[in-house]
Amino acid sequence: MGPSDTITLDKLNEVLAEGRSIKLLDEGIYTVLDGKSLHHQYDKKAAIYDFLVSSRLYNRLVWGDSPHNYAAFAAQGVKSHQGGLVLDAGCGSLLFTARAHLECGRLVIACDQSIDMLRRAQKRLMQLGGRGCGRIILLQADISDFPFHAGSFQTVLCMNVLHHHSDAAGLIRHLKASLADNGQLYLTSLVKNNRPIGDRYLNLLYKKDWIVRPRSGAELKSLSQDLLGAFPGYWTRGNMAYVTTDMR
Ligand SMILES: C[S@@+](CC[C@H](N)C(=O)[O-])C[C@H]1O[C@@H](n2cnc3c(N)ncnc32)[C@H](O)[C@@H]1O
Repeated sequence: MGPSDTITLDKLNEVLAEGRSIKLLDEGIYTVLDGKSLHHQYDKKAAIYDFLVSSRLYNRLVWGDSPHNYAAFAAQGVKSHQGGLVLDAGCGSLLFTARAHLECGRLVIACDQSIDMLRRAQKRLMQLGGRGCGRIILLQADISDFPFHAGSFQTVLCMNVLHHHSDAAGLIRHLKASLADNGQLYLTSLVKNNRPIGDRYLNLLYKKDWIVRPRSGAELKSLSQDLLGAFPGYWTRGNMAYVTTDMR
């Protein structure tokens, strides 16, 4: 472990809520979980997720949107400020965010409960040539049991995670509270949006217990406005909803 690793770990320890501690789980991957729940939804599904969800055709047909747009939103998020910590909450394999994190020069905490997703994230960072890898801390954490101090992050990304959470309001509140005073939240979620293919597929995923009851676009918009202020940036493309508190 070099001096820069020590600095990033010190930073991670600084933002952890009271009573939380980290352990090394794998080389370069830390955990705040106590190991009680060893299996998570995306373990063993990480490879198929990456294969399917990186496909332009799949996204266009099923969700009416594109991987390019997801990555552009993430890049806008990390470029929204020059400095300060970034949290990528439910980062998965960094499918749409790895490049943005590597290019932004900021310190990033990328957390997910699935160790398989985090291992893929690590591999992706290495493959993309990571001189910036050392600035990106991979952390196994459960964001429903939010492990970070209020006010810790300048920018929070939470992409494609909310449709897995029944307590959307609770999660949005935690994400908002984790922002510094002038911080920015960038969030995406699948929603029903009067698209027969996408809406039916969301219902199917719900029946298979893969996601929670699908929310409508209107429901998420109203929830976001209630929790984030009167005019958060909100738009949809196909079944993908984009929410941001960054009004520029
Ligand atoms: C649909 S994937 C999205 C991954 C990534 N953000 C992306 O856009 O490709 C949902 C991710 O959220 C993670 N996740 C769901 N609930 C979580 C929780 N309570 N704590 C941490 N991660 C969670 C899953 O493990 C999975 O990697």
